[in-house]
Amino acid sequence: MNDAEPNPDRLTVTDSRTGRTYELPITEGTVKALDLRQIKVSADDFGLMTYDPAYQNTASCRSTITYIDGDKGILRYRGYPIEELAERSSFLEIAYLLLNGEMPTTEELKTWTAEITNHTFIHENIKRFIDGFHHDAHPMGILVSAVGALSTFYPESKQIHDPATRHREIVRLIAKMPTLAAFAYRHAMGLYYAYPDDDLSYTGNFLNMMWRATELKYKPNPVLEHALDVLLVLHADHEQNCSTSTMRLVGSSQADPYSAMSAACAALYGPLHGGANEQVLRMLNTIGGVANVPEYIRRVKAGEFRLMGFGHRVYKNFDPRAQLIKRVAEEVFEVTGPSPLLDIALEIERIALEDDYFIAHKLYPNVDFYSGIIYLAMGIPVEMFPVLFAIGRTPGWLAQWEEGLLDPDQKIGRPRQVYAGYLERHLKS
Ligand code: CMC
Repeated sequence: MNDAEPNPDRLTVTDSRTGRTYELPITEGTVKALDLRQIKVSADDFGLMTYDPAYQNTASCRSTITYIDGDKGILRYRGYPIEELAERSSFLEIAYLLLNGEMPTTEELKTWTAEITNHTFIHENIKRFIDGFHHDAHPMGILVSAVGALSTFYPESKQIHDPATRHREIVRLIAKMPTLAAFAYRHAMGLYYAYPDDDLSYTGNFLNMMWRATELKYKPNPVLEHALDVLLVLHADHEQNCSTSTMRLVGSSQADPYSAMSAACAALYGPLHGGANEQVLRMLNTIGGVANVPEYIRRVKAGEFRLMGFGHRVYKNFDPRAQLIKRVAEEVFEVTGPSPLLDIALEIERIALEDDYFIAHKLYPNVDFYSGIIYLAMGIPVEMFPVLFAIGRTPGWLAQWEEGLLDPDQKIGRPRQVYAGYLERHLKS
């Protein structure tokens, strides 16, 4: 490599096939993939493409919503550090921030909260739709279907270029997600559907719809209500992950937001995305006790299996969300009583953080290491974990969907492929 003549903001590429040299502009740390198209071996050559399965090094959009620096363990929504937001803001304030770019004033928050509260009910036919599912249907499967079905109840949602319509559908989706989630749970339990209570907070009302029994007025435990709110804040956005990219891609075809969000929920359903905290719980149960942790770690290091809840594609020093969640876990266990699973988790963390293998591989607890234990302590069954993740991620999905729609650089998403099949062949006569 020759670094004699620095040429700022340009990448000089020489194509060894032709000997030709090209100057590609560098903007915001990227070169435009389409600029490679001019690099050809002949006039009828299609031009050079990049090959990037899983988009590991491809920026698919410009975004002003969430900033992550994985090496430094930084997560910020609209510039605000996640630590400050988790400490001082409610989930509905964060939803407003993600969607509007600024924290709401007191008056704006009042209006926003009233709007969300007004839309928590779902059409009675959706209840019947949920009734049609088998008794052991996975609540995430119900959620994927019910969110998509909402588009048929609100056909005006297809007017995606009308800002007022977009706003109304965004409000509806944020408001109705906890209702759909709780109804999916109660269907599985064979319980009557508990309707929303407008006097309660967003998370207080969700707990009401999950747990209300014979009491006339459900009173959520304030510690659990706060803990759940913080968990939703921590999950509210995480830039271009699998489900968010799905939301943007489906949105790029100008589908209505219900259809796009149903697809995002489906992407989240996968065990590699929204299902990891369930795996953490299964692992802790398999370990069974603190005394068995060293042997389990030995087997992880021997390559027998992975330590679930450790490691992250982006965070390579620590996951800032995991540190915040650990504090929430302590508060929750003061209410629900100690959990033997937490003791096992703490022992894993203690040993792993001192161990050369985990240090060398940059493996630290991620957000899922603690969230599952907290949900379980609250009495939420394992199948509901990705559903809770979906409620939290809803404002992030919607903010990213709207940003994509309004971005003049965006068109319908349409990746290229490297065709590796038969070039041409013919049927036998
Ligand atoms: N336990 C043991 N070894 C691990 C682990 C782990 N949890 N994670 C990675 N490694 C090792 C892996 O074996 C490899 O070792 P070597 O280089 O010697 O072959 C090295 O670390 C790199 O692994 P990788 O799979 O290339 O790393 P990645 O960045 O592609 O994977 C990950 C990230 C999260 C998929 C992975 O760390 C993992 O499988 N973790 C366990 C599952 C989990 O907790 N997932 C939740 C992620 S957070 C949810 C979210 O934010 O959406």
